[in-house]
Amino acid sequence: MTEDVRERVDEAILARRERVNEGIREQLPVRHPERLYEASRYLLDAGGKRLRPTVLLLAAEGVTDTAPLSTDYRSFPDLDGEPVDVLSAAVSIETIQSFTLIHDDIMDDDDMRRGVPSVHREFDLETAILAGDTLYSKAFEVMLETDAPADRSVRALSTLARTCTSICEGQALDVEFEHGADVTVEEYLEMIEWKTAVLYAAAASIPAILLGADEATVEALSQYGRDVGRAFQIQDDLLDLTTPSEELGKTRGSDLVEGKRTLISLHAREQGVDVDSLVDADSVETVDEAAIDAAVEELRETGSIEFARRTAADLIEDGKRQLDTLPEGESVELLRGIADYLVERTY
Ligand code: IPE
Ligand code: IPE
Ligand code: MG
Ligand code: MG
Ligand code: MG
Repeated sequence: MTEDVRERVDEAILARRERVNEGIREQLPVRHPERLYEASRYLLDAGGKRLRPTVLLLAAEGVTDTAPLSTDYRSFPDLDGEPVDVLSAAVSIETIQSFTLIHDDIMDDDDMRRGVPSVHREFDLETAILAGDTLYSKAFEVMLETDAPADRSVRALSTLARTCTSICEGQALDVEFEHGADVTVEEYLEMIEWKTAVLYAAAASIPAILLGADEATVEALSQYGRDVGRAFQIQDDLLDLTTPSEELGKTRGSDLVEGKRTLISLHAREQGVDVDSLVDADSVETVDEAAIDAAVEELRETGSIEFARRTAADLIEDGKRQLDTLPEGESVELLRGIADYLVERTY
């Protein structure tokens, strides 16, 4: 990605993040019982890159060929010129993201998220489970507030529901694969498609559904999301090894300690590395930076880091090609730029 495109992508994310944050404050107010809603809002307020809602808003602009940031996302003109509240759809997708993070940190036994203690650490396990559940169902309520025609609304909800089922299936496989000896690359790619990429697919295709785009466009955007979303997860696995915790906002090396199966560990195992002995610790608190550095060095030497990078880069190219049928313009260019950003980011 050129420096100019990167700058525009950074600005595009920043501007849309602001709008999404306003939407979250409007649609997810803290009310009685306060502790439940405080826990539900806690991670949303702590930060987050807002990549999925940004993709959603850019896709809305892309399918309708609307100039970036030129209209109010609460009354965004669909392909017949009728207003649709696409910001509600964006808030809904980020609400699902937040729900998955709360429950994921419980499953992965992680103490830090978005630079703050994870919800089950800051509050307690019961509250964290409930906060996740609340966000999960709220996301459907909010997706119903787009004012799109009923048939499109039902289809958007159905897509969201299938997405959530898929995330649970993917997360189940992720946990099942821990320390597994015979996980294949294909099984890993299926697992990350389900746990992670489907939410990108929903983010990219739901605006097309809501705005009345044709079938081919909906499908192209969905495939774009599945491709770039898988690349995003591979990059997440790489960053778990390489980015310091303070920058990452979550604890570096967590996957090594948990025995997670990633493209990197699968490749290393094929080269004869005993990946489960790379770091010797019971929890992330007891592993030191030097041990992680040494593990990363070994993974670099076996070519495993490079293998993961290359696989992610190929997926990004596949995803970008899906956009070729959309009307060329700034938003579609930004969707391509954001695809590159997903694997070039360092946090
Ligand atoms: C983290 O997603 C969860 C994964 C699917 C790897 P992000 O890296 O987008 O997290 P936030 O939303 O920016 O905190
Ligand atoms: C999470 O994958 C995928 C989700 C569905 C949340 P990870 O477990 O790798 O995400 P992080 O690294 O904790 O954000
Ligand atoms: Mg995790
Ligand atoms: Mg996880
Ligand atoms: Mg991770």
